[in-house]
Amino acid sequence: MPPPALSSPIAGPPLDRAAFDRLAGLAHSEAGLAIAPSKSAMVRTRLARRLRKLGIGSFEQYTELVESDAGRNERREMISALTTNVSNFFREGHHFTRLQEEVFPALRQRLATGGRVRIWSAGCSNGQEPYSLAIAFLEAGPLPERADFRVLASDIDPKVVAFGHVGRYHDSMMTGLSEAHRQAHFTPCPREANHQIVSSALRSMVVFRELNLQDRWPMRGRFDVIFCRNVVIYFDAATQNRLWHRFAEVLHPEGWMFLGHSERVSENCSKLFSNRGDTAYQRCPPPAPPPPRPALMKGE
Ligand SMILES: C[S@@+](CC[C@H](N)C(=O)[O-])C[C@H]1O[C@@H](n2cnc3c(N)ncnc32)[C@H](O)[C@@H]1O
Repeated sequence: MPPPALSSPIAGPPLDRAAFDRLAGLAHSEAGLAIAPSKSAMVRTRLARRLRKLGIGSFEQYTELVESDAGRNERREMISALTTNVSNFFREGHHFTRLQEEVFPALRQRLATGGRVRIWSAGCSNGQEPYSLAIAFLEAGPLPERADFRVLASDIDPKVVAFGHVGRYHDSMMTGLSEAHRQAHFTPCPREANHQIVSSALRSMVVFRELNLQDRWPMRGRFDVIFCRNVVIYFDAATQNRLWHRFAEVLHPEGWMFLGHSERVSENCSKLFSNRGDTAYQRCPPPAPPPPRPALMKGE
């Protein structure tokens, strides 16, 4: 059998090791993505579409574009093409059960007494995760009037952020929702068959923002719950480690953090988080300050 053509129309032009290394280096410095050389074929296929769209004939040329100042927008497109946006409503449902049983009751009580509750879906993709969090919170009843409750939904990819904000889902994206959830929080889209649109009440509980987790975070105030699921799987250990410390800083003492089923907080962060099982972690309260030193006796 002849070897496969190096420049098939599907895979695009050949991607040599030098260009791969430069693109992978950029994906790492921009978004923390760790892409091994064994993923070269995946990078080639996913970026070939960008080359075609831009009318660029080689990966060398493409690399020069994304490395240049003028290539800022294309760098975002490249990161978007290299990341995976797969998500579902109520994905890994045991996390939502945990929230409803162990976490939300105290938060609801805080809201009822005029307190503030903040939940962060970090790496929210198309919005199914943050909307599931809001729906789960409402399961115990409507919010008290003027409740200071918000789910922050952030992602590096501006396309998914815009998609989530609109909140219009094809029926095929509605799996995970019960019929009762659909009835309560979605209505059929009047302009598009087989699409459901999120209710304005639910949308008002979720704020979508474009945010690269590697950048500075502009949020002020602490979070009660952070969902960062199926995101750090693409990061190397050092990048993950930095993130655990940053999440710990923005979590309330004893706040909760949930990761995807194949993700773990590293052992050396055991002073920051206690492992509560099923990739749920709880912030360890800061150590108590040392007792005051006894007053010095005269002559000491
Ligand atoms: C597989 S989706 C996970 C969606 C959702 N959390 C879930 O578990 O269903 C991963 C998301 O992480 C986002 N992502 C990857 N790197 C990121 C970064 N550096 N900063 C913010 N988001 C990032 C991707 O754009 C993608 O939408």
